[in-house]
Amino acid sequence: MKRPKDYLIFPLDVPTYEEAIQCVETLKDHVGVFKVGLELFVSVGPKILKAIRERSAAGIFLDLKFHDIPATVKNAFLAASAYGVTFATVHCDEGKGLLRSVVENNPSGTKILAVTVLTSLESKDLKDLGYIDKYVKDITELVMLKARMAKEAGCSGVVCSGLEVEKVKAELGRDFLVVTPGIRPTWSLVGEDDQKRIITPYQAIKGGADYIVVGRPIRSAEKPIEATKRVLDEIEMAISE
Ligand code: C5P
Repeated sequence: MKRPKDYLIFPLDVPTYEEAIQCVETLKDHVGVFKVGLELFVSVGPKILKAIRERSAAGIFLDLKFHDIPATVKNAFLAASAYGVTFATVHCDEGKGLLRSVVENNPSGTKILAVTVLTSLESKDLKDLGYIDKYVKDITELVMLKARMAKEAGCSGVVCSGLEVEKVKAELGRDFLVVTPGIRPTWSLVGEDDQKRIITPYQAIKGGADYIVVGRPIRSAEKPIEATKRVLDEIEMAISE
């Protein structure tokens, strides 16, 4: 049975090894997965993965959001898979063929999550990027297009906003994982924010999210452990109803 903390992914979005370790030590009993993203991995390198593993039983999500030509992504993913992490991400934008080649070259069985439409994007950004009206007017349509592609390619799931979770689950099934960043509790004190398609922890879990990524609402809180517990309470409320 999944406990509230198993739903919670904490992104280690800090620039140094020491700060990352401090976050791991502080939060290791309260989160299910630690996410290592571009900032930390580029700054510190793969030793951070070993360090997390030595200190915590939490899963590790290597979130490098690969996006390049197929040969490069395939080989980079092969290297990422060798770290034996629980999850890793690839953008959908190179198409189904690329996703399939990643799925087929994943010896350690890392769960491949396909990034659909970043939660920092909203309709006017899609318009600026030249997307057709259908997608500008309804981002969920674009998320679904990419999510279908990811499922057909054999990915374990997708990353999308909480606003799209219900539709992804309804169409692609309960076992197709949905990870939702852009989580903002009503009490969150994140200042200037780049996240646009946001939703609360309660709403995301209620909608069917398998995991929520909660970074700044915890990191920017005066008392991070208290903030984490408030997130866990919301998760608990959503799963117990
Ligand atoms: O909660 P907060 O906004 O701080 O979370 C930021 C994290 O969410 C970053 O690690 C970022 O990489 C991740 N993210 C993501 N997919 C998105 C948007 C953000 O994985 N679509």
